[in-house]
Amino acid sequence: MDIARSPNMEILSDLRTRALAGGGLHRIDEQHGKGKLTARERIDLLLDAGSFEEFDALKVGRTGLIDAKAAQPGDGVVTGHGTIDGREVFVFSQDFTVIGGSLGEAHSQKICKVMDLAVTAGAPIIGLNDSGGARIQEGVDALAAYGEIFHRNVQASGVVPQISCVMGPCAGGAVYSPSMTDFIFMVDSAAYMFVTGPSVVKTVIHQEITSEQLGGARVHASKSGVAHFTAANDIVCLREIRRLISYLPSNNRQKAPLLDLRDPAERDDPALDFLVPPNPNQTYDMNVLIYSILDGAEFMEVHPQFARNIICGFGRLGGQTIGLVANQPAVLAGVLDSDASFKAARFVRFCDAFNIPLICLVDVPGFMPGPDQEHGGIIRHGAKLLYAFVEATVPRITVIVRKAYGGAYLVMNSKHIHGDVIYAWPSAEIAVMGPKGAAEVIYRREIQAADDAEAFLKEKMEQYRRTFATPFLAAQRGYIDDVIYPRNTRKRLIRSLQVLEGKQARAPLRKHGNIPL
Ligand code: HXC
Repeated sequence: MDIARSPNMEILSDLRTRALAGGGLHRIDEQHGKGKLTARERIDLLLDAGSFEEFDALKVGRTGLIDAKAAQPGDGVVTGHGTIDGREVFVFSQDFTVIGGSLGEAHSQKICKVMDLAVTAGAPIIGLNDSGGARIQEGVDALAAYGEIFHRNVQASGVVPQISCVMGPCAGGAVYSPSMTDFIFMVDSAAYMFVTGPSVVKTVIHQEITSEQLGGARVHASKSGVAHFTAANDIVCLREIRRLISYLPSNNRQKAPLLDLRDPAERDDPALDFLVPPNPNQTYDMNVLIYSILDGAEFMEVHPQFARNIICGFGRLGGQTIGLVANQPAVLAGVLDSDASFKAARFVRFCDAFNIPLICLVDVPGFMPGPDQEHGGIIRHGAKLLYAFVEATVPRITVIVRKAYGGAYLVMNSKHIHGDVIYAWPSAEIAVMGPKGAAEVIYRREIQAADDAEAFLKEKMEQYRRTFATPFLAAQRGYIDDVIYPRNTRKRLIRSLQVLEGKQARAPLRKHGNIPL
């Protein structure tokens, strides 16, 4: 029989047309009216033009199997694979125009299929979330459907990068799938995430609050730390996901792709010799150093609005992706607190899982003191960062720029926790504590007895600063590998990365460690 004349061709064409139409023109208009793109428009922008291969466009939910009229081909989610800059990724994009993008059994099976294939093929999985949550009409089957996704989120963790993009509602238990992935993007105004919504908040704790205030993009990017990135709209968001993918390997067996930005490895920057102010109490912006050393001055900061006293993000050195962790003296003097420790620990673990070398730029006066931090568990949270660095087997290189005091010095990828190459600038101060604290402890009695206590303390601080608050004691002991000229930082880092290219380190055999969560 001539296939082109087969009745199935017509059926296929009809089903495809219905699948492509989603919830229909009216609902698509509503979606656009909210400033949101449709599921398919989003995929088109995310992937290289014409690269999308769709799966399960014809799949319908259980109700659709029984009642053909209720059958919506695709069941509210578009799934498949395509490329970003020529590299394969798997994707699912929830279609809010179909039953509010709600998730039932078939919808979940489609997502699970691409998640399974992503792991099998060793390619990232990107989820574009825009959903009313568990499909109420499917009852416990909808909850079971979420469970299957959660299971796969954990199985895929550390195997392929998982990226979530929240572009609409994401409420109740549904939030736990994105939260178990590696990075969450949220779109300003359109996206919100919460475990219990404003109406429940009002009933239970009698507080009026909007969705935006409770779980909007800004709140999660700056306060809770749930969102790693925010974007003004869908278009910017999808472009940023493409940018993130460019820094990452496709799976945990590969290294990130090299990208030559034609920035000479030998390039020096004499201005760096003047970055650190002569007065140790004066601040400066660590971003100056970061943008100076990285290839093409390109840096993708993760969590830019959360725990700003530490900077984490991706850049390239000599074409190779690196994960950068840097104290920011311009915010809270660069002190380590609970949020900063959590933020950096999760970032370090991601880099380690995906073979991305770590560069650590240190200017840390210590851990944040006070009952708020102590009672909030800074011991637990600080331990996360310590654990994460110790556990990491990727190349680990540190530059001590200025302050490196006490436990915080050890935590920030020091030689003592087996950092591979440790450099210090001449401005480095590596000691148990800062000059004032040290002089006050050592000379407590003498200060009390002195005629001019202030002058005495000042003299002792100066003495301490000259003797201890320098890089030279640590250099004499071999705890740092070299004191380098600031202007040469870029080339020294690139050389170190080259020499550590073949680093092999093995963790002892065990089921898994027990990081202080
Ligand atoms: C079935 C749903 C749905 C859901 C929305 N719809 N959510 N259908 N199950 N969960 C349907 C609506 O009935 C409507 O259909 C269409 O989708 C569009 O929804 P609207 O309400 O018109 O849109 P909007 O005004 O933009 O409001 C969006 C919304 C709201 C805020 C998401 O729909 C809503 O509150 N939905 C329920 C959210 C919820 O409680 N979900 C369960 C969360 S708990 P019609 O045909 O009328 O246009 C959860 C548990 C997960 O998900 C557990 C995992 C372990």
